[in-house]
Amino acid sequence: MSPLGVLGSLDPERAHRTAMLALKLAAGPGPFLTHRLRLLGRAAGAAAPCEQPTRLWGANFPNRLGLAAGLDKDAEAVLAWASLGFGFAEIGTVTPRPQGGNPRPRIFRIPEHAALINRMGFPSAGKDAVEARLAAAAATGMLDRIPLGVNVGKNRDTANEQAWRDYLAVARQLSGYATYVCVNVSSPNTPGLRDLESPTGIRSILAALADADLQGRWARRPAVLVKISPDVAEAGLERLVDAALAEGAAGFIATNTTVARPAVSSAPLAAEQGGLSGPPLAAAATSALAGLRRAAGNRLVLIGAGGIDGAFEARRRLQAGADLLQVYTAFTYEGPRLVREIAAGLQRRPH
Ligand SMILES: Cc1cc2nc3c(=O)[nH]c(=O)nc-3n(C[C@H](O)[C@H](O)[C@H](O)COP(=O)(O)O)c2cc1C
Repeated sequence: MSPLGVLGSLDPERAHRTAMLALKLAAGPGPFLTHRLRLLGRAAGAAAPCEQPTRLWGANFPNRLGLAAGLDKDAEAVLAWASLGFGFAEIGTVTPRPQGGNPRPRIFRIPEHAALINRMGFPSAGKDAVEARLAAAAATGMLDRIPLGVNVGKNRDTANEQAWRDYLAVARQLSGYATYVCVNVSSPNTPGLRDLESPTGIRSILAALADADLQGRWARRPAVLVKISPDVAEAGLERLVDAALAEGAAGFIATNTTVARPAVSSAPLAAEQGGLSGPPLAAAATSALAGLRRAAGNRLVLIGAGGIDGAFEARRRLQAGADLLQVYTAFTYEGPRLVREIAAGLQRRPH
C-alpha cells in the first residue's frame, strides 16, 4: 500500500476530489460545525503544537506553515485547514469567470520521488461562486482562526495586455476576506502567463491593485504578494524585486512549479507536460528564495514553497530567507501528519 493509503490507488485527481469531499462534509457551514471541526482536528491528530504566533499584516499566524495555492482552489473546505494544523491557508487560483481548465488526466504522480507533475490550467469556479463560499464561511464566525490568502489569476482567453483587469476584478471582489492577495504570474499551464513575470508585466498588475481601494480582512488593506516561478534567472529576480518595491507590493511567494525536470528525468511520467512539484523542486525553489532575499534585504516578506517535505527542509528554507512557508505536494503524500511534524519541528528549534 502506498503512503497515501486507499487514496493512493485512485487516479490523483479523483483522490483529490475524494479528500476534498470528506473535508467539505467535515468543515462545511451547517449544523454541528464546531463539533465537526473538533472531530476533524482529533482525526488529524489533534491540534498542532503552536510555536510563538507570528504577527504580520495585522494578523496572528498560529504557526508559520501554510497550505499552498491550488489545493483548495474554490474555497470548498476553507474552514478545514485550521483544524488540520495549518498556520494560514491560501485559496485559489481564482479567475474572474468560471473555466474548466485543461482536459484530464492533468495530474501525475511520480511516487519514486514523492513528486507531482500537473497541468491543471486554472480550473476555477470563478470569483462569484468563490465569494459566495467565503461569505458562508465567514458567517459561521470560524473563518478567522487562521489568516487567509487569496491567489488571483486571469482567464485563459484574456489577452496579457488586458490581464490586469482580471487580477483587479478578482482582488476587488475577494479581498475583504483576505489577509493577503497573491498575484499568480508563474503557473506554467496557462499559455503566455509567464510572459507577465517581467518587471513591466508585474508592474501593470501591481499598479492597478495599488490604485484600487482594496479592503482586506480586519478593515485594513490586504498585503499584495507576487508568486514567482523557480525558472527565473538570478539577474531577473533583482529586477522583479525593484518592480515590486516600486509598486508597493509586500513580498513574494517563491516558488510555483518548474517546467524543468531535475532528478526525475528517468521516471516514466517525467515527459508529461506541466509543472513539477515536490522534493525535486527544492534546490531551485531555495535558490530563487535566497536570490530574492539577497536582492530585497529586509524590505519584503518572503513565503517559501517548493519541495518542503519535513521539519529539516522547513528550517533550511527559513535559513534561506523565508518568513513563512507553504506546502502542497508533500501534504498530498503524507497528510496532516506532515503539518504536525513541521509545526512541532519549528517550535522546538526556532531559527
Ligand atoms: C496539482 C497542483 C495544482 C496547483 N495549482 C496552483 C494554483 O492554482 N495556483 C498557484 O499559485 N499554485 C498552484 N500550484 C503550485 C503550489 O501552490 C506550489 O507552489 C508548488 O506545488 C510547490 O510546492 P510543493 O513542492 O510543496 O508542492 C499547484 C500545484 C499542484 C501540485
